[in-house]
Amino acid sequence: MRTDNEKPLNNTGEGPYLLIEDRLKKLRSEDRYRFLRRVDTAQEARITLDGASVLLFCSNNYLGLANHPELQAAACEAVNRFGCGSGASRLISGNMSLHEQLEEELARFKQYPSCILFGSGYAANVGILSSLMETGDVIFSDSLNHASIIDGCRLSRADVKIYRHGDTDHLASLMEEATGYRKRLIVTDTLFSMDGDLAPLPDLVRVARRYDSMLMLDEAHAVGVMGDNGRGAAEYFGLDDAADISVGTLGKALGSFGAFAVCRPEIREYLVNHARSLIYSTSLPPPVLAAALKALEILQAEPERRARLAENSDRLARGIRALGFSVPEPVTPIQSVVMGEEAKAMSLCEQLLLRGVYAQGIRPPTVPPETSRIRFSLMATHTDKDIRDALDALSSSLAALSSPSLLRAGE
Ligand SMILES: Cc1ncc(COP(=O)(O)O)c(C=O)c1O
Repeated sequence: MRTDNEKPLNNTGEGPYLLIEDRLKKLRSEDRYRFLRRVDTAQEARITLDGASVLLFCSNNYLGLANHPELQAAACEAVNRFGCGSGASRLISGNMSLHEQLEEELARFKQYPSCILFGSGYAANVGILSSLMETGDVIFSDSLNHASIIDGCRLSRADVKIYRHGDTDHLASLMEEATGYRKRLIVTDTLFSMDGDLAPLPDLVRVARRYDSMLMLDEAHAVGVMGDNGRGAAEYFGLDDAADISVGTLGKALGSFGAFAVCRPEIREYLVNHARSLIYSTSLPPPVLAAALKALEILQAEPERRARLAENSDRLARGIRALGFSVPEPVTPIQSVVMGEEAKAMSLCEQLLLRGVYAQGIRPPTVPPETSRIRFSLMATHTDKDIRDALDALSSSLAALSSPSLLRAGE
């Protein structure tokens, strides 16, 4: 007879596994079940997705740098010289000359006195917010901020006040009420990742100054994309150095991986001593650093990539508006077609795929209930024809959704 200690480890169907299966069933019944699609090619305008050739309209490879030959060559050279991995956290033996070089270049690019790298944008937001803000402090956070900001706020043990999306009057009224705190910090995405709109930075800066609050910007989607020199939304508004901390990622427009924060040297020093996602995590590996350095060079030397991305964004926005959907001003490379219910957004995603266009459906909890959508992301590498084809596919997919017979035929 088998004793409890000898039970097989794979006890599917029992105890915790039943609960996990129940949660998955619930997600399926709510049309919120997620699954992974497989890409077999580089992040180009046309990819192979689960074996089919489709146009890619949901990559953050905004400037087309992820598989640029010069980035690939720089990464290979770094592997040959320094190896594949960094071996340890920055605070142990993992602080390599490439980390310091990239930090210097990023600080120069962003016109800040210092810069600190993180393993990812997620790790940056969580690490900065959870270390800088503590019990007795208060954080003011936009209601549509990215999940990594929300998680950083939760981990911080500071009080968190959520202001209505982009509503600086509401923010000011919350600031007015919030007295007796030691430190205050306003945190916001600059280019919102799901709606493609910009935070009202000039008003946010005014409120921050009036109420003696620090300001932290997450420029994840704006670096390389916004501003005459691609420094981000703060540059776009002429407010380059207005934030106390400005976060950017290396994995989106910069075509590599990882993230950074620019700030004053005291904050950098503080983060090196307190940010747990920095201290207790292996540092970025050499090929990723070398690719990011090369990307930064190309980004500054080839403004035409940004111009092309802007043209593509305008072209898609005109088409989406002509189909009756709204796209916020100023137009950015993130544009959503809001469908409302989860099932509708996912059906539209499947219809688009049938027509050879991949733009992912986005549902709660990533976006608020009743705002499920298809989110399009543009790249500088899309051609005029790619965008025309995407709009034709969108138009006929929407028509198919309102006509069940067409839906069945997938036409
Ligand atoms: C606004 C925002 N911040 C942070 C992140 C996280 O960046 P990373 O992908 O480098 O972890 C994302 C990622 O999508 C984002 O959209």
